[in-house]
Amino acid sequence: MIKSIILAAGKGTRMKSDTPKVLHQIYSRTLLEYVIDAVNETGLADENYIIVGHQAERVEEFVKNKYSNAKTVLQSPQLGTGHAVSMVCPYLNDFDGEIIILCGDTPLITSDTLKTFVEAHRKMGSDITVMSAIFDNPTNYGRIIRNSDGSLNSIVEEKDATPVQKAVQEINAGIYCLNWQKIKNAFSQLKTNNAQGEYYLTDIVEWGNNNNLKVNAHILERNEEIYGINSKSNLAQATKMLTQRTLDKYMTNGISIVDPNSTWIDPLTEIGKDTIIYPSTYIEGVNKIGNNCKIGPFAHLRGDVVIEDNVKIGNYVEVKKSHIKSNTNACHLTYIGDSEIGSDVNIGAGTITANYDPLSKVKSKTIIEDNVKIGSNSVLVAPVTIEEGANVGALSVITKNISKWSLAITRAPLKVLDGWVSKRLKK
Ligand code: UD1
Ligand code: MG
Repeated sequence: MIKSIILAAGKGTRMKSDTPKVLHQIYSRTLLEYVIDAVNETGLADENYIIVGHQAERVEEFVKNKYSNAKTVLQSPQLGTGHAVSMVCPYLNDFDGEIIILCGDTPLITSDTLKTFVEAHRKMGSDITVMSAIFDNPTNYGRIIRNSDGSLNSIVEEKDATPVQKAVQEINAGIYCLNWQKIKNAFSQLKTNNAQGEYYLTDIVEWGNNNNLKVNAHILERNEEIYGINSKSNLAQATKMLTQRTLDKYMTNGISIVDPNSTWIDPLTEIGKDTIIYPSTYIEGVNKIGNNCKIGPFAHLRGDVVIEDNVKIGNYVEVKKSHIKSNTNACHLTYIGDSEIGSDVNIGAGTITANYDPLSKVKSKTIIEDNVKIGSNSVLVAPVTIEEGANVGALSVITKNISKWSLAITRAPLKVLDGWVSKRLKK
């Protein structure tokens, strides 16, 4: 098994935020999670070292709570990317395998690309493989400098580059695969004689050449995968790119997305075929939607939602942490939270599951069994169960369990005063 090192100590000044850069979120996951998850999904790595520095405690706590196979290593002060990697050396002295190095702020990287990259490293018999990419505008990236025979010579940072080097369009993507035992000594020999006075990780390429190692670059196919987050604007752009990728995958799998430009779906959501997602729908978190459903327009699913086949979730319906069985409809203006809803249920417009007691801060469950019909504008005060086939009259507030096939209604009786209006008008 290989190990990964993920660089996440940098300051992220341009985010202008009190939250560390790598803890910013796209949908339900932080930037750092996207990277760790991509590494874990390759199935190749058994351990991840996360280099933390700026607001280290918050990142450490996050990693500790979320991953059993990730360790944080403190880098303080932050003296450059080469220095960051050197922090892991004491832990890996005896590790005789491959290391992949990535950055914690590139959430669009995929496990497929990482797998292909490691395979390429192995096929080429490389000791050091750098992921490169061809950019129309290479500004700010390290440039890949090749010898006349095409072999990799070195990486030169923008700030150290000559005009000729700056014209090179092949850039360093910032992802590396290393045969650790052969490279580990480089980290005690890096120098800071460069424009930024930092220990550059990129200098291992020249070090490798000087030490007769096999050094190669592998060109990335889809440039968007190394899109890095430095600002809130980048964060929005990455969210859009990730969403586009997710929606394309759904459409390939037979799901209709009426308007991809106004539809936002977390890639952790699974959707069955022939389901139609109408415009302005926002779906966040881990959800499972069945076949032949109609979701939206203007629907909001907030995570931990399971929807079975032939379900309609219509406009201004919000659903969170709930299971909805087949052939059930909630078509208008409804909140469903912490609920279990059976099949063939109709939830009338304006129904609310009152799941939260703000005094005790306790959330409770609403259970609605098969064939129940809930009249419009009803409030179901949880914990509550509406048993099979029961009907709830419109405008009811249900505060206790309702037995099978009965009618529950709390509405004030209707009064009609004959001729009342005309009498008033005559006065
Ligand atoms: C780096 C590469 C550059 C490459 C680019 C790709 C070096 C010297 N240059 O440049 O060739 O094209 O990435 O995006 O490596 N970090 C630490 N500790 C540090 C410094 C940085 O953990 O002391 C982390 C940052 O948080 C970030 C990553 O390392 O996640 C990259 O650092 P950054 O300063 O963005 O490097 P670049 O100048 O972009
Ligand atoms: Mg950078």
